[in-house]
Amino acid sequence: MNSGVIVLSIGFLTFGAAIIYYAGSKQDELDFAVQPVEYNHSKHVALGIDCSSCHTGATDGTHAGIPSTSTCALCHKIDRDFPSTPPQLARYIKGGEEIPWIQLHKAPRHIYFSHQRHVKLGKLDCAVCHGDVKTMEKPFGKSYFPSGLTGMNKCVACHLKEKVTTDCLSCHR
Ligand code: HEC
Ligand code: HEC
Ligand code: HEC
Ligand code: HEC
Ligand code: HEC
Repeated sequence: MNSGVIVLSIGFLTFGAAIIYYAGSKQDELDFAVQPVEYNHSKHVALGIDCSSCHTGATDGTHAGIPSTSTCALCHKIDRDFPSTPPQLARYIKGGEEIPWIQLHKAPRHIYFSHQRHVKLGKLDCAVCHGDVKTMEKPFGKSYFPSGLTGMNKCVACHLKEKVTTDCLSCHR
């Protein structure tokens, strides 16, 4: 191999790596910049607030729910310095508007999934399905249950392991 080819291929490798790197950072941006407020789970969970105080349906309901602006306003008083309220959040609190959170975990309409069933009766910790939320410093970027059959496999794999029904009609209603 002559040196020209080597230089060329190194150049190509660097170019390739740059594209991969660029694509990677683009992905991260998309993963994290989607939510209207840069919510930080780890800061709030560290205060000792229980998951279910904000996601009120997670233990006793079908849907966990995402808290409304009034829940945030319990602590984030816009006329006080502490806790600091970033402008993106203050805007919604001042206007009495709901924050248009993008819900990422969303089963299709024909699927029946109940939080109460899994959390209360199944005694499953949130982390089993949602990961280590306690340490998350940025809003959710993606769902643990991707759409289509890949998402279904996650449900069925656990049902097989826990010896729970895998009858199609128990989930597809
Ligand atoms: C129980 C009180 C409490 C509630 C309820 C609460 N927060 Fe906070 N929040 C805090 C405290 C305390 C801080 C930390 C302030 C600091 O470190 O300067 C904070 C910080 C923040 C920050 C800044 C994070 C950062 O990285 O500095 C954002 C954004 C925020 N909260 C959004 C929200 C939203 C959105 C809600 C409602 C879904 C909410 N908070 C509900 C107490 C609360
Ligand atoms: C067995 C897996 C599993 C467990 C355990 C679980 N979740 Fe979920 N979670 C899901 C699925 C699946 C969805 C999407 C459900 C839908 O679209 O109806 C979801 C959706 C959510 C959402 C989006 C809002 C909503 O109303 O659907 C929140 C918030 C949430 N879960 C919080 C929690 C919390 C907090 C816990 C623990 C108390 C928990 N989850 C335990 C699987 C789980
Ligand atoms: C102070 C309120 C608050 C507390 C406490 C809290 N969350 Fe959240 N959670 C939110 C807000 C606001 C969002 C929407 C923004 C985001 O995705 O980070 C959210 C989003 C989520 C979602 C993704 C919803 C979706 O599908 O887009 C899950 C899952 C979740 N939280 C689980 C948990 C778990 C598990 C805990 C306890 C370890 C917890 N949360 C504690 C406010 C809270
Ligand atoms: C434990 C629950 C569960 C069981 C049991 C189950 N499914 Fe599913 N299935 C799901 C979920 C959840 C999805 C949707 C995943 C998504 O799109 O987020 C799905 C999606 C599908 C899809 C893809 C449709 C689409 O929207 O992309 C087909 C096809 C399907 N299931 C067929 C079956 C058949 C056939 C059986 C029985 C052999 C079965 N499922 C049993 C939970 C289940
Ligand atoms: C980590 C394990 C786990 C995952 C993941 C999981 N499940 Fe389950 N599921 C259970 C357990 C355990 C039970 C039984 C709870 C009880 O009643 O004791 C259950 C029960 C159910 C039932 C009631 C079944 C019946 O007997 O009628 C339905 C419906 C269901 N799950 C749907 C789903 C769907 C849809 C998904 C995926 C979106 C899912 N589950 C993901 C563990 C899981």
